Amino acid sequence: MAKHSARVNRKTKSQISKRNSGYGAVIVLTDFKVADISIAPGGDIGCHRPAEKSLPTLASLMSRPGYRYIPNDGSTSLGVVDPDGTLLAGIFTGPAPRNASSPSWDTAIEDMSSLMERLRREEDVSFLRGETHHRRGNYTLVSSGITHGNGRKIPGNLRERHPAIVEELKNSEAVRRVVGHQDALFRYNAPKLYAHCADQVDELLAHHQDLQRPFSHSVYTTFTANMGPASSTFKHVDSQNDAHVWCAITNGGHFDFRKGAHLVLYDFKLIIEFPPGCTAILPSATVSHGNTAIGPGETRYSLTQYINGALFRWVRHGFRPASGLTRNDRAERDGDAEDRCAKVLGMFSKTDEILLDRECLL
Ligand SMILES: [Fe+2]
Repeated sequence: MAKHSARVNRKTKSQISKRNSGYGAVIVLTDFKVADISIAPGGDIGCHRPAEKSLPTLASLMSRPGYRYIPNDGSTSLGVVDPDGTLLAGIFTGPAPRNASSPSWDTAIEDMSSLMERLRREEDVSFLRGETHHRRGNYTLVSSGITHGNGRKIPGNLRERHPAIVEELKNSEAVRRVVGHQDALFRYNAPKLYAHCADQVDELLAHHQDLQRPFSHSVYTTFTANMGPASSTFKHVDSQNDAHVWCAITNGGHFDFRKGAHLVLYDFKLIIEFPPGCTAILPSATVSHGNTAIGPGETRYSLTQYINGALFRWVRHGFRPASGLTRNDRAERDGDAEDRCAKVLGMFSKTDEILLDRECLL
């Protein structure tokens, strides 16, 4: 079996799991419940919503009724919960160094950022316009991993236009550390969703041994490097991502986080300061999100990981297109559409149950 087809790591450190749910502060939403999350009929992906075509100013967001500004200097971790305590998203600090000789998290973020800057500059003219101006914003991006849908007959590895960039990113110690941290945050904060994803990814890769997730130490099947120079995203949902998946976003660069690059969670009416080195995890297929602009001359880079929603449907359908199933077989495999959506939302964890939920991974 190919190296990157190894089973997904489900380990959690039990001493951490039992002791610490991990939030320095909790933001309680007053008018949004987990049941308000809109999943497309079928329970696989988010509902399509058109992206906006420009970045909002902080002032324009602050003037919107009901929006809350959340200060965050990056020194503590924030959980976003609904009125019943169900965790809907989180913004986290970096991990502690593994040992006294390992580089600090700040160093890793600086290394990731300068690598992206160098790789973008070196490749420069060979980027297509669609790689520098796209529905999420006006900055350069490179993706790698497994995809399906959009006319594909079977899942496949993304065709890479910049294999040298992808290879360098995948081999970077700094990027690999960020990838591992993102995976751990998803695992610890949405353990039931993570376990579901791990099962599906394992099944997919056991069946299709040609498929390669980019990093063997992460459940995610795809990553995107947002390579700057000013990677702020327009308001959007990643509706083609799987509804079970909390995508992860770690940012770097040099910007004034009090003035720009805020993480805006539109459905929650939250404007959160998002300093370099912080990682956000959120159900990006279903929750509308984006950033504010950074200032002239400032830079921002980010690394995101996610899973395409058509992949798990492919697994559920027995590694066949829906058109290859009889009506009865499909009805049996899909079940009731509303039940499937409710089942996804039922896998979100409440903060007071999260330590118990983590046991599904032990
Ligand atoms: Fe996104």
